[in-house]
Amino acid sequence: MTENPRSSWVPQGVDVERPSAARIYDYYLGGGYNFESDRQFARKAIALLPSLPMIAQQNRVFLRRAVRFCVQHGIRQFVDIGSGIPSVGNVHEVAQQINPEARVVYVDNEPVAVAHSRMMLSGDPRTAVVQADVRDPDSILNAPETRALIDFDEPVGLLMVALLHFIPPADEPKAFLAQYRDAIAPGSYLALSHATVEHQPAITEQVRQLYESSQNPMTSRTKAELEVLFDGFDLVAPGIVFTSAWRPESPEEVGDDPERSVIYAAVGRRR
Ligand SMILES: C[S@@+](CC[C@H](N)C(=O)[O-])C[C@H]1O[C@@H](n2cnc3c(N)ncnc32)[C@H](O)[C@@H]1O
Repeated sequence: MTENPRSSWVPQGVDVERPSAARIYDYYLGGGYNFESDRQFARKAIALLPSLPMIAQQNRVFLRRAVRFCVQHGIRQFVDIGSGIPSVGNVHEVAQQINPEARVVYVDNEPVAVAHSRMMLSGDPRTAVVQADVRDPDSILNAPETRALIDFDEPVGLLMVALLHFIPPADEPKAFLAQYRDAIAPGSYLALSHATVEHQPAITEQVRQLYESSQNPMTSRTKAELEVLFDGFDLVAPGIVFTSAWRPESPEEVGDDPERSVIYAAVGRRR
């Protein structure tokens, strides 16, 4: 998108000067819903870690595999929190390829992500968009759009893909995850992915520090810290692994060095 920070798709009140995680990620993925501040930030990050666009792509591939896995295991409805700016292969597109009846509520707290999602999905009765913060489960679970599309007596696919590393320990992700867990039926699935500095720490820690200057400071978590977030869920095989190693569809998808994806991925089944 050419530089016009006040073009028609930009909602009022958006801070175009301070990079946002949603728009930086859109740039990594080759999208056009980002501003000069986001692009400058993303170029600095890519200078530190040139594989960032590949890392973002692998994360999207994990998202699509996790959605397919859920639909193949009977899930017909999804709540995708931290859904971001729509990209190639969004959750409803992937799910509806297998089950055309699948329903999806997209949730993000970033106004550009929400505006673009609404623009893209308007008129689609099986999807809805909610602007809300993952730290406020009530505002998501009880939003009229959610209540209209999601039947909480039936299992749900709850997605938090590349989201929780934007939640600092002080905001107690384990506590709010327990609220989501208690609201969803047994047999639901939680799919998440999460950045870590456990591998390539010298470089990834510099990227993490760079995000301090964005609207979304980043927290790294270890595999053990992620396990704790799945309290009340049974991890499905292969457990917590790097994105490219989560149920790859071919050996080429994993590559020689899955640790290079620096993002852990896992899916758990609600007991
Ligand atoms: C890296 S993007 C991931 C997008 C998508 N889930 C994916 O994996 O392709 C992270 C998204 O989380 C959103 N986000 C960050 N903090 C959030 C919060 N507290 N509540 C809701 N969304 C949040 C950002 O706005 C951004 O769109």
